[in-house]
Amino acid sequence: MSVDVIVGLQWGDEGKGRIVDFYAREYDVVARFSGGDNAGHSLVVGNERIALRLVPSGVLQEKNELFIGGGCVVNLETLVEELDLLAKLGVDAHRLFISDRAHVVLQTHIEADKRREAERAQPIGTTGRGIGPAYADRASRVGVPLREYCERASTPQAKRVSAHVVDGVAYIHERLAQRKRVLAEGAQGTMLDVIYGTYPYVTSSSTIAGAACTGLGIGPKVVNRVIGIAKAYCTRVGAGPFPSELHGREGERLRERGREFGTVTGRPRRCGWFDAVLARYAVQLNGIDAVALTKLDVLSGFERVGIVTAYTSDGANETQYLEGWAEEIRGIRRIPDLPPAAGRFVTTLQNLIGVPIELVSVGPERDDLAR
Ligand code: GTP
Ligand code: IMP
Ligand code: MG
Repeated sequence: MSVDVIVGLQWGDEGKGRIVDFYAREYDVVARFSGGDNAGHSLVVGNERIALRLVPSGVLQEKNELFIGGGCVVNLETLVEELDLLAKLGVDAHRLFISDRAHVVLQTHIEADKRREAERAQPIGTTGRGIGPAYADRASRVGVPLREYCERASTPQAKRVSAHVVDGVAYIHERLAQRKRVLAEGAQGTMLDVIYGTYPYVTSSSTIAGAACTGLGIGPKVVNRVIGIAKAYCTRVGAGPFPSELHGREGERLRERGREFGTVTGRPRRCGWFDAVLARYAVQLNGIDAVALTKLDVLSGFERVGIVTAYTSDGANETQYLEGWAEEIRGIRRIPDLPPAAGRFVTTLQNLIGVPIELVSVGPERDDLAR
């Protein structure tokens, strides 16, 4: 039996969408296990850029089944919008299944999210999608499981969603019994995990690989491989600690070249160098086997590229600088063919984090990948 897991190693927006799209061809089911429509996965196909918040990123692989697990919280309006988008793109939505254990994000959750943010002395900078209040209600045992909602609600929207709702535990175990290969797709990133992230500046669900088990209703022994996705630099949306953050020209350049603006909220993302201390922590928390490194092309043209290698007791960082490279690298398809300075950057990261980098993404297009 085999379930592989993909998670973000930083603060989300590592480019999980397109990497999941790449790996998805080797799987039968792509399953989201946590979060809700706070996520914004971008996929680029030809001239079309689509942003998905709930539907798993395996959607472009025609044969994949898509599953939204019990660990997720679902905003029905967003879901219906995505069903409409898929219909427009000619994607067959019959292959989307949603666990009856997932909870519904209600309008009252969205209002409470905004109200609590406004009341906080130091706002978290949430996405305003009601995610925190929906998970809080689940934990307080006053939430609304999707199963219950669909039984009670009689609107066309509820009917449309009901058509996709299944007994989520039976669903996933039937697939495993049939020896289907499942790819569990994380949302957000390790440093936004509600337990191990930069609390309280985190999301309200567990985002790490272990959450694939609770979020899908499977035991840890069926998990095979865990792939971590890291950007070649760091970004974060919203408030909270960010040790490698750059405030000057280099940070602005990363934001512009990397188009670092939120998919859901449009907010400018804070930018900084790759943080190897944080990456090692994330490797431990998730049990990472291999890393996919994204957006290396964004670093082309920098005179020097930095990597934070240690935090000092006075709250500063030690940053190792490597020589940059001028070449555009989008056309490169093999890691050994990268310009020498880019290759040294990748090898240095690999040595610092201690796991192999098996895939390097060199552009936003579907094929812009070097192995
Ligand atoms: P979350 O679930 O919100 O964390 O989303 P995500 O990890 O899927 O990332 P998101 O789609 O928010 O951000 C990634 C952005 O970077 C998208 O606009 C992608 O098109 C783009 N992107 C991904 N990989 C690369 C790359 O290698 N190079 C460049 N230039 N852009 C990339
Ligand atoms: P919430 O999940 O909307 O409650 O937001 C809590 C924190 O997580 C905020 O800092 C958000 O910016 C951040 N966050 C939530 N989802 C994502 C995501 O998909 N990508 C990046 N940051 C996110
Ligand atoms: Mg995103």
